[in-house]
Amino acid sequence: MADLDGTQAEQKQYFSDVPQESPGYFLKGSHQYDWGLKNRLAKVFNPANGRTIMLAFDHGYFQGPTTGLERVDQTILPLEPYCDCLMLTRGIQRSIIPASTQKAIALRASGGTSMARPDELSNESLACSIEEAIRLNASVLAVQVFIGSVHERQTISNLTRLIDQANRYGIAVMGVVAVGREMARTARYFRLATRIMAELGAHILKCYYTDEDFDSITSCCPVPIVIAGGKKIPELDALKMAYNACEQGASGVDMGRNIFQSDAPVPMMRAVRGVVHGGMKPDEAYQMYQDLKAEQA
Ligand code: 5RP
Repeated sequence: MADLDGTQAEQKQYFSDVPQESPGYFLKGSHQYDWGLKNRLAKVFNPANGRTIMLAFDHGYFQGPTTGLERVDQTILPLEPYCDCLMLTRGIQRSIIPASTQKAIALRASGGTSMARPDELSNESLACSIEEAIRLNASVLAVQVFIGSVHERQTISNLTRLIDQANRYGIAVMGVVAVGREMARTARYFRLATRIMAELGAHILKCYYTDEDFDSITSCCPVPIVIAGGKKIPELDALKMAYNACEQGASGVDMGRNIFQSDAPVPMMRAVRGVVHGGMKPDEAYQMYQDLKAEQA
């Protein structure tokens, strides 16, 4: 079988310093889509720089009241003005998010398992119909895919079925790389997972940042990649991660815990915005975070 074991970075040619062209449209790999899909993507990604800040607070779909999300009305609504897109579940969207919001919606569309059964976490199904996505005015549908897990085939099938449905209506599908406990968070793994999902038609990919060879992941994925933040780390480190990811070809962040679990979520949200959209270096954005935090005190 072609190249089954030939995935070492040193044998590959990623052309990381040569940007992929997308003539006539601002977003990587998206220039040949239809009008509606392009318009939805332009609500998620800022046409001025091709980047997005998705605020991820969909964790409750398998974790219940996650730390920082016990009261979404109290903790997330103050962050809403500073993001481009809200990544959430339909339950929270209907019950908490004002329908007057101008932000794009990235709707969680897979689920069906919980952290009470960690061995079963990859056993997801599609959890939202396409009609429901249209009613909720979603720009993006997010589906978890567990490459390398016992439910790899099932979750890839969830992805491709959702893409078939979403393509009928010009809605984007974001493939979320779910890293099981048995999988290493390496560039090699993320190259494999993101590229497979892009080949199968995902319009956006989400994966974690890697300290090594992250640019090889973004280079060989023909559509935009955004990074998840992962577990809470110190604010400066999270800002460095966002900065380094964007410098190495990420189209922004889909960040949750490192914002809503921060000591000062609004200042952190604004600092992330400074890095992704404001041209700030991490140290500069961290200083802004500290200043804003001091002002709040
Ligand atoms: C939950 C998700 C989250 O949206 C994703 O992990 C981003 O959040 P965080 O920055 O907290 O990792 O997909 O499964």
